[in-house]
Amino acid sequence: MIAMNKVLIIGGGVIGLSIARSLSKKGIKKITILERGEIGKEASHAAAGMLAPHAEAEKLDDFFNFCTESLSLYPQFSEELFDETGIEVELDKSGTLYLAFTENDVAEITGRFAWQKQNGLKVEHLSAQEVRKLEPFVSPDVREGLFFPSDWQVENRKLVAALRKFCELNNVQIIENTEVTNLSKNIAETFDKKHEFDIVILANGAWLSLIKTDDFVLPDVRPIRGQMISFNTAKRLFSKVIYSPRGYIVPRKNGKIIAGASVEDVGFDKRTSDFEIEKIMEHTFEISPSLSNLSISEKWSGLRPCSPDNLPVLGEISDNVFIAAAHYRNGILLAPKTAELIAERITGGTISTYFRTFNPNRFSLKTNA
Ligand code: FAD
Ligand code: GLY
Repeated sequence: MIAMNKVLIIGGGVIGLSIARSLSKKGIKKITILERGEIGKEASHAAAGMLAPHAEAEKLDDFFNFCTESLSLYPQFSEELFDETGIEVELDKSGTLYLAFTENDVAEITGRFAWQKQNGLKVEHLSAQEVRKLEPFVSPDVREGLFFPSDWQVENRKLVAALRKFCELNNVQIIENTEVTNLSKNIAETFDKKHEFDIVILANGAWLSLIKTDDFVLPDVRPIRGQMISFNTAKRLFSKVIYSPRGYIVPRKNGKIIAGASVEDVGFDKRTSDFEIEKIMEHTFEISPSLSNLSISEKWSGLRPCSPDNLPVLGEISDNVFIAAAHYRNGILLAPKTAELIAERITGGTISTYFRTFNPNRFSLKTNA
């Protein structure tokens, strides 16, 4: 166990909050979260809440295993959070469809089906009729589809609310509107104070590289904007999350339908644009023309934290400085496993091999090689 009295977590998104909870459950008493704005209002608020390692998988590698291991923690994670806070995070295990509307789409899903089947993953091929039987509001133009029974969704805004409540009920100190600007070996500096720590965890998402430090090399994490829209319907029209190669829709329990998302490398700019919103609408109506009768109830954007190789950055950069960032498109999915690994590492459990794969120093090591 690393000597610790005071643990500081920089960033109160789903990653920072989940780590705080795991550390608290392991008996760590003095935990403080420093949050630049309001807890959980950045990428973790903007997300769609899909827990979809299979639908998004490109290959079987450590990242895929990390995703599926985190997914397998979700039933317990959500049940425990309900017991701990009374907040139901709406883990929905109805599965995910991936639909083809063009010849290219058919080729894409045929390839995806073949390699996933060969590798023993759970995926089913569906005809157009089978798709429409499952989801009658899907376009009659659908050609075929894949069904991923093990890809789920969670209501990410409720998840963040539950994690915040856990922290409040368990004496995790939360300090909002407080940005860490400088970091040295034992001090995180904000506009009004120097916060001493024994251990610090940088969980500040897309803003990781903006912290100034002379003592460490922080990896280059950049923001990738995702714009989203939603529609409200009186009752739930779809039972499953539905992807096409161009977009996705996520039906919530209360009838809300979330549709997204753009993928834009435009810096720290959270504006929405008519151009991208229109593209999202086009891709949404391709999946379900019925939705074109509805008006948009909300549009928003968030900044996905992305590393140079698109993979998470996880582990230590010195004895007492840890990074848990760059979860890019999958931070909601990866929160429970990330929290488990960081908490185990800090409180003396086994050191996961994922710390090697997602090592924060891998970029500087490559440059020097
Ligand atoms: P954030 O939620 O951004 O939290 C970081 C926090 O750190 C922020 O609150 C910020 O204010 C704070 N901070 C920054 N700098 C400082 C500082 N110097 N001092 C103090 N505080 C600081 N993932 C999925 O798993 N499934 C999905 O379906 C999904 N859909 C997405 C859709 C969109 C449109 C977007 C944008 C993302 C989506 N993601 C999804 C990705 C997911 O949202 C992110 O990977 C995840 O939220 C990252 O969590 P985080 O806690 O690292 O970052
Ligand atoms: N994982 C969905 C997104 O990032 O848009």
